[in-house]
Amino acid sequence: MGLSQLARLVKVLTLPVIALAMILVNCSGAPPPPTHPTPEQQASADQLLTGPDWYRHAVFYEVNTRSFSDSNGDGIGDLAGLTSRLDYLKDLGIDAIWMMPIMPTPFFDSGYDIADYRTINPDYGDMAAFDALVAAAHQRKIRVMMDLVLNHTSSEHAWFKDSSSSATGTYADWYVWSDTPSRADVGCGTYSPQFGDSAWTFVPARNQYYFHRFYPQQPDLNYRNPAVVAETLDTVKFWLGKGVDGFRCDVIGLLFESATGCDMIPETVDYIKQLRAVLDQFPDRAMVAETDIGLGPAPYFGSGTDMFHMAFNFHYGYLWGLAFLGQNATNVYSALGPVVTDYPPGAQDASLIGSHDVARAWSHASQLAWRQQRAVEISMFTKATPFVYYGDELSVRDGTTFVVDSRDSARTPMPWTPSPGHDFSTATPWIPFSDGADQTNVQTEDADPSSMLTFYRQLLTFRRGHAVWGTGDMSLITLDNPTLLALVRQVAQEAYLVVESFSEDPQQATGQVTNLPAVGPVVWGNGQASIDGTNLHVQLPGAGSAVFKLGAP
Ligand code: GLC
Ligand code: CA
Repeated sequence: MGLSQLARLVKVLTLPVIALAMILVNCSGAPPPPTHPTPEQQASADQLLTGPDWYRHAVFYEVNTRSFSDSNGDGIGDLAGLTSRLDYLKDLGIDAIWMMPIMPTPFFDSGYDIADYRTINPDYGDMAAFDALVAAAHQRKIRVMMDLVLNHTSSEHAWFKDSSSSATGTYADWYVWSDTPSRADVGCGTYSPQFGDSAWTFVPARNQYYFHRFYPQQPDLNYRNPAVVAETLDTVKFWLGKGVDGFRCDVIGLLFESATGCDMIPETVDYIKQLRAVLDQFPDRAMVAETDIGLGPAPYFGSGTDMFHMAFNFHYGYLWGLAFLGQNATNVYSALGPVVTDYPPGAQDASLIGSHDVARAWSHASQLAWRQQRAVEISMFTKATPFVYYGDELSVRDGTTFVVDSRDSARTPMPWTPSPGHDFSTATPWIPFSDGADQTNVQTEDADPSSMLTFYRQLLTFRRGHAVWGTGDMSLITLDNPTLLALVRQVAQEAYLVVESFSEDPQQATGQVTNLPAVGPVVWGNGQASIDGTNLHVQLPGAGSAVFKLGAP
């Protein structure tokens, strides 16, 4: 064999080896990040997740039961279906679920119109199925948080049926009534044009109008009636007594109406403090506020210990897509700044990049995987408890069929396999799958080392068992290049520098730092950082991010 032939043979033989090596080793030469925690990480996580501060270290998952998994072949996801998928959530690194409302409802607002607060929507199962879900979740150390919709009921709730039938019945004063489509002491209109242009709807039987911030099928409760306060707090006790770990509180700032204010007026603040006092009668419970984006999360915390444990940061959660569109981190700095400067001690930010109310993360990312990956990293690396919206870990696309309203685009069935029914149900699902489910499904993505699901697994594994991500101090570093974001997280001996890019081109920046420990190795992503004096220099590849360990090696 001549030399050139040998060379050709070596080439042929080594090419597949090189290709394989490139799959196993990314371009920085490091092996791909692990997708499952070490036993030490898991032991540390178990410890952090025990006791009253569990929610600060937990990763939450918002689940739409109706679209998660159908156990009885009627095309509608249900509690038993969800229970059967808990191992998937556990394996993904989820510590708590928040369930969208699961009570009986005529479904004018996807269950946010509740017709009975103490029973289960028969589409989803019964109380025994609920108890079984909670038990199965707790057995796996997954907490269960319910959606608490207190501002309004369904117009088909028995209270409203009574209230709207006469002005003298038991529930006559449980809602907000007026002889005209306005009232001097009620200054608010509908919450958004989505819910119509008048907040008042006429009822002939009473010859009066009732007030609703949302759809006409969602009459607002009258919290100035002490019976409403007593009954709603009692409902909360009922569910806590059943073992739920807490609540996501729907439009909680809107409870009390007044002439001028609509959101978080003093009476509402006072009610929330009573609500917190009820929770505090039970060990290790937590609640998270749906906040008004105008007010921001800070007012929902009170002193830090007398109102919400967590509040959603929608300035990040709903606006991150704009930062990527503009290749500019400024609005992300603005969303994170108040976490550092305005929150009272003890407050815990709740971070998200998707929910049932907005388009899919994939759309906010303009269908660019790197944008969604940088966005979810930011929500996992800032000082916050992260909430993953079901299906975003697969980068599920927006659906195009609407059953209730346009928000259904983000409420399509969870695709588990590439098969036509995607193992969601044996029947036609209540709403069609989003396009692309033959690719964006659990089974296909699990087998693909470059999938969004693998990325989420790696990211959740990277964070797991490190207290620094849940509760470590955060400081934001101002850079001279607006396409980059830099921040430092630190707890006791563990500290990290996080740098994220909003640009697809390589970028570098300099920022001023004081007392920053020495920059150590990159432990996530790719990039370079160095300090000279008080100057921090950072450099990232296009579309990149990097986490550097700080301090003595
Ligand atoms: C919250 C829910 C939303 C619902 C509204 C009225 O904003 O997230 O889905 O339409 O409250 O309950
Ligand atoms: Ca079903």
